[in-house]
This record gives sequence, structure tokens and C-alpha cells, in this order.
Amino acid sequence: MSHPLFDLSGRVAMVSGGASGMGRQMALGFAEAGADIVLADLNLPGAKVTASEIESMGRRALAVVCNVSDIAQIRSLYRAIDDEFGRIDIVGNVAGEGHLGRPEELPIEKLQEVLQNLVVGRFTSCQEAGRWMLK
Ligand SMILES: NC(=O)c1ccc[n+]([C@@H]2O[C@H](COP(=O)([O-])OP(=O)(O)OC[C@H]3O[C@@H](n4cnc5c(N)ncnc54)[C@H](O)[C@@H]3O)[C@@H](O)[C@H]2O)c1
Repeated sequence: MSHPLFDLSGRVAMVSGGASGMGRQMALGFAEAGADIVLADLNLPGAKVTASEIESMGRRALAVVCNVSDIAQIRSLYRAIDDEFGRIDIVGNVAGEGHLGRPEELPIEKLQEVLQNLVVGRFTSCQEAGRWMLK
């Protein structure tokens, strides 16, 4: 139920990892507060399940396949958001793959994957959204 102190009606939120876990809960929470939602995930069928729940709440939802480690895919995600909604107000960069392991054993390639995913990908997403917001 939308609360007057936290009313996101007319706003558009992008949530990565919206097919499951924390991203899914974040997307449902923003939709409850009135926002339309873009779900970006590797798991398209899962993102579509979340999208149909959001639509049943009376909001618009768009499920997009996007690997958040891939800069070209993130840029194309924001083009799709612009085509479909013409605005972006909220960015939830939730998707990511951390690696748990002993530092003395961690292959540097794994560290580079994590940095690409959690740092470069999230920065690119914020940069793309920020450009649209400034416009
Ligand atoms: N659950 C926790 O307690 C917790 C705590 C701290 C950090 N995190 C981090 O938060 C993130 C989400 O956690 P969760 O528990 O919701 O995980 P989850 O596995 O339930 O959900 C992750 C979602 O992200 C998607 N995804 C994974 N890699 C992707 C990629 N490269 N591009 C696009 N989508 C991708 C998956 O398909 C999945 O839908 C993870 O990075 C996790 O390491 C989780």
C-alpha cells in the first residue's frame, strides 16, 4: 500500500537482480510505493515472474535480459528504458556475484571478475542513469 510519505507514483525504478532474492523484494517494494519497474537480470523467466506480480499491482513492468558485468548490455538496458519509459528516477544495482574464499588462495582472475561485476558494472549503471537524470 502506497504511503503519502513515500509516494513513488509516476517514477521509474531499475532494479538489477530482480528475478530473485533482495532485488526481487526491492522491486516489489518500489512498486508497492507506486513506481513502475524495470527488472534487469540474467534470468529472464524469473524476471518475468516478478514483472507479472508488479503488473498485477497496477504498475508497469519491463523485464530485460542484462549481464551487469557487460558494459554494452548495461548501455543497451538504459536505451530500452528510455524507449519504453522516457525517464529513470531510481537505480537499484543489486545483482552481483561476490566470491568467498581464502585470500591466499583466490585466483586473481576471480578478483577481476568480481571487480568488473560489482564495481565497473555498477559504476556504468550509475553513469548511464545519471546522464539521463541530468538531461
Ligand atoms: N543475501 C545477502 O544476505 C547478501 C548480503 C550481502 C551482499 N549480498 C549480495 O547482494 C547480491 C544479491 O544477493 P541475493 O541474496 O539477492 O542473491 P540471489 O542469488 O537471490 O539473486 C541474485 C540475482 O541476480 C541475478 N544475477 C546474478 N549475476 C548477474 C549478472 N551478472 N547480471 C545480471 N543478473 C545477475 C541472478 O540471476 C539472481 O536473479 C549479491 O551480489 C550478493 O552477493 C547478499
